[in-house]
Amino acid sequence: MAKEDRKDKTVEQIADILGIGNFDTHLFLCTGPDCCTPEEGMAAWQVVKRTVKALNPDLRHSKLYRTKVNCLRMCKGGPIAVSYPQGKWFHSVTEENAASVVEYLQSGATEPHPLEFRAHPLFPHNDARDDPQA
Ligand code: FES
Repeated sequence: MAKEDRKDKTVEQIADILGIGNFDTHLFLCTGPDCCTPEEGMAAWQVVKRTVKALNPDLRHSKLYRTKVNCLRMCKGGPIAVSYPQGKWFHSVTEENAASVVEYLQSGATEPHPLEFRAHPLFPHNDARDDPQA
């Protein structure tokens, strides 16, 4: 759905069209300008979009939601990407590598991806700060 087609819709309608509430992974891809050039970032972003669409022809039922951002504060070795709730961080998510990251996330594989440099799952979390007995 093109952004201009959203003008007459409510936020609830747009959320339904985008499948918000159906996905279990949210992938954020940095498109630069410091971890990679904007050209490299946008080339990777196009691959992410194409791969998600190929794996999920009906985006309303996609298990993976994707968002491009302009900085994930790493600013080196990009394009940098992170997925939640897994908290998996990836480097070098280039045009050549982006499809493998999307396919990996969508597969539900548990072994680390070759480009994964850190894993910090947010759910289930084990944060003792929420335990008043801790
Ligand atoms: S510009 Fe990509 S992480 Fe900062």
